[in-house]
Amino acid sequence: MAEEQHNANVYELHHEMGYGHVYPEGHIIRVYKHILEWELQLTRGTIFDFGCSTGANLAYFSSLGFIPFGCDTSSVAIANCKNRIPQYADNFFVTPPHADLHALLKGQRLDIFLSNQVFCHLDDKGIRNIVETAYELVRPGGVFIASMMDYSCYFAKYINGESGDFKRVELNTPREKEVSFINFKHREEIEPLFRPFKKLHLGSYGMHIREEEGSSNHWLYIGQKEI
Ligand SMILES: C[S@@+](CC[C@H](N)C(=O)[O-])C[C@H]1O[C@@H](n2cnc3c(N)ncnc32)[C@H](O)[C@@H]1O
Repeated sequence: MAEEQHNANVYELHHEMGYGHVYPEGHIIRVYKHILEWELQLTRGTIFDFGCSTGANLAYFSSLGFIPFGCDTSSVAIANCKNRIPQYADNFFVTPPHADLHALLKGQRLDIFLSNQVFCHLDDKGIRNIVETAYELVRPGGVFIASMMDYSCYFAKYINGESGDFKRVELNTPREKEVSFINFKHREEIEPLFRPFKKLHLGSYGMHIREEEGSSNHWLYIGQKEI
């Protein structure tokens, strides 16, 4: 719990300094276009974004006609998210590092559960709790989308300790100097972590912009609740 709280505190400081995307990252748009729209014809419904930050992903899905819900540990992020999507302001919540999504969503049925670059900040038990709750909230045939950080991500070059399921990462690049606790995963660990969702796709995404940093590789899992 100390590590999860540390990670949340680090993000709160980032958010106070203006952290957060205006637009969703490209892989989120491709997941929508290539999988939700093209493969599954899932173009309407409810979406919950766990660790939604300032709501870039939710604003995108809302613009497509989805009803957005989301939570984040950062109060600054959620205030910005409410400002960005005021018509759904009551659907966005500040939560502790181990959120009780049942209490939060009060039985709200979900078509899509999304969590992009957040589970790597929780330990395995915390992830499993969220996944099991997500499985109950998502309707049969609904979709679960989640990323985990891979060991080929440049963060792994800065591992200098270990604590339970976490590696202690002390970033020391010209751009980033901070300590965080990351739950890295190998490819073969992803599918069991996200059961009972049934695997549709296990892909990855990443980019390499600054030479001295390296690629930002994450696994990207798309699962479905069986009908
Ligand atoms: C790397 S950002 C990703 C933001 C967003 N999901 C996206 O795709 O752009 C991680 C976000 O997760 C939030 N966060 C960190 N730990 C969390 C936790 N235990 N529960 C919920 N949100 C958390 C941070 O405040 C931050 O907004």
